[in-house]
Amino acid sequence: MQAIAVSWGSGWFLALVGFVCQSGILCAQDHHSFARPQDHRIRHLELDLVVDFDKKILTGLVTLDLIGGLETRTPLSLNTLTLDTRDLDIQKVVGLTKNGESIILPFELGPKDKILGQPLVIRLPKPGLRVRVEYATTTRSQALQWLKPEQTAGKKYPYLFTQSQAIDARSWIPLQDTPNIRFTYKARIKTRANLLAVMSANNPLEKNSKGEYVFEMPQPIPSYLMALAVGDIAFQKISSRTGVYAEPGVLAKAALEFSDMEKMVKACETLYGPYQWGRYDVLIMPTSFPFGGMENPRLTFVSPTVLAGDKSLVSLLAHELAHSWSGNLVTNATWDDFWLNEGFTVYLERRIMEEVYGRERALMESVLGKKGLLAELKSLPKEAQSLQLKLKGRSPSEGLTDIPYEKGALFLTHLEGIVGRPKLDAFLKKFFHEYEFQSLTTADFESFLNRNLFLSNPKAIQNAQIREWLYDPGLPTGAPDPNSPRLTQLAALANRFVSGLITAGDLKAKDWTSQEWLQFLGALPPKMLLQRMNDLDSTWHLTQTGNSEILCVWLLLCIRSDYGPAFGRLEAFLTDQGRRKFLKSLYEELVKTGPGKARALAIYAKTRSGYHHAITETIDAILGYKP
Ligand code: BES
Ligand code: ZN
Repeated sequence: MQAIAVSWGSGWFLALVGFVCQSGILCAQDHHSFARPQDHRIRHLELDLVVDFDKKILTGLVTLDLIGGLETRTPLSLNTLTLDTRDLDIQKVVGLTKNGESIILPFELGPKDKILGQPLVIRLPKPGLRVRVEYATTTRSQALQWLKPEQTAGKKYPYLFTQSQAIDARSWIPLQDTPNIRFTYKARIKTRANLLAVMSANNPLEKNSKGEYVFEMPQPIPSYLMALAVGDIAFQKISSRTGVYAEPGVLAKAALEFSDMEKMVKACETLYGPYQWGRYDVLIMPTSFPFGGMENPRLTFVSPTVLAGDKSLVSLLAHELAHSWSGNLVTNATWDDFWLNEGFTVYLERRIMEEVYGRERALMESVLGKKGLLAELKSLPKEAQSLQLKLKGRSPSEGLTDIPYEKGALFLTHLEGIVGRPKLDAFLKKFFHEYEFQSLTTADFESFLNRNLFLSNPKAIQNAQIREWLYDPGLPTGAPDPNSPRLTQLAALANRFVSGLITAGDLKAKDWTSQEWLQFLGALPPKMLLQRMNDLDSTWHLTQTGNSEILCVWLLLCIRSDYGPAFGRLEAFLTDQGRRKFLKSLYEELVKTGPGKARALAIYAKTRSGYHHAITETIDAILGYKP
């Protein structure tokens, strides 16, 4: 929502550009969707799809229950329904009347936009119709990744998964693809008999002989949380309401790594109110999953790269779980407000980590988070540095920086510093309660903040300071500066190692956690003497580490230091896993030198076809690769 000043007579008034779209809240204009929520909104969706692994398409239909908009509707606009689509094959649109008749509805696909796809404009001859679209996905549908058996852990069965966030739900379901609209859903998925289908909904515990599964999501969710995975998937329980889904060979390891799931859910409930989604399960994805995790409701999707064997990377689970409050329950209204999802979630994640693993662990993660943010701020253009983004005309994936995550979390930490923990906790609990199952903009949050945290104590923080955090680039002066004595020690140790005062053997690093390693390696100069690289590697076997976060930072150092013995592992790491964060930083480092770029291109030519769309989009740009 935007506020513009309008002159009227002798005075100025604020005119709100927006429309009422849910009880009393003005609806933001989402420039990443063709949908017109002011005319119609999907309130319930039914999906009926067949998974065709041979053709690599989904075929079937979606049926939409609509409710009319509340304001600014004109009879003319009510006669059409506009849905978002991208790379879909739309076959037929049918209107269903209350007494069971069906009417063929005329439709038209509008011009193609590179980022947004195509509007599907459907004519509605009368009100009160349910709308059914018969369609198929295409091999270009970006949300879908179809994996060959070789790309799975078990190597025997194919696998399919979706990734809808931010604006890719429209590439597997024609719908209103905006976080501003929520709906409940049911689905029927038909696949091969030896595969299990799971969704962001209530899930089956085992395969059935028909390969037919039904799902229900009774809580209203935004479209970017629509999710499906199909593969050789099994389930193992952790507590009565939590568990892990994974390929059979990965299941036991995953259940051990995530054995604290129930503790995490309890910790978050104690802080911010009841978990509202019934069960909380996790699905361990194949290695090509492009993100660390995705908070699909009831069933978080997680990259296997977080299974370090020692719970050292479980903050990712805390993060995705926290989205059950920040993001899934209370949602950003547009992708410009993405920090409302991610910044809150990083703050909640660290609070969960503190409850379950102690203050020192949470503090270390905050210190590393801020370090990453400061490093990224150096290279980000000013326009990309404010919490509220301006992504109009650009892909929402351009907003995937440390700004929404770490600057967002620092803002909440800053507020905590001003009012104290008990007050901020009560404020956040109220926030999640008042806005539950709703979407809001940065401006909505700003006003909630002023009304609830500072109304009785306006001197505590100036409005200008809040606005600086939300709308200005950089980090405001007085931003929190988390400090971990242990990490400070490690930076000192790194200095002594670099200057030759101590050797790798003196580090006593046998029991170092990931956070300690990340700090130590991060404190080394960008380029190291080969002799020291050798010393580190032969003593601590970093090239062989099974911890993906440590490995990534180590490999970056190896590239910069031209440390040959690690290049084989580098190629394997670029091939065996598909996480955007790792691939992006490694390829970016490689292209900085001629030989590095040549190596990168050679590897990429072999691996590109196994990467997800979200990855090829990113890496093509880094390498200047023209497919
Ligand atoms: N929701 C995000 C992933 C995402 C964001 C996918 C935007 C597509 C578009 C998820 O919760 C997330 O933040 N994942 C992070 C991990 C997190 C611990 C920082 C990731 O995948 O790296
Ligand atoms: Zn997140």
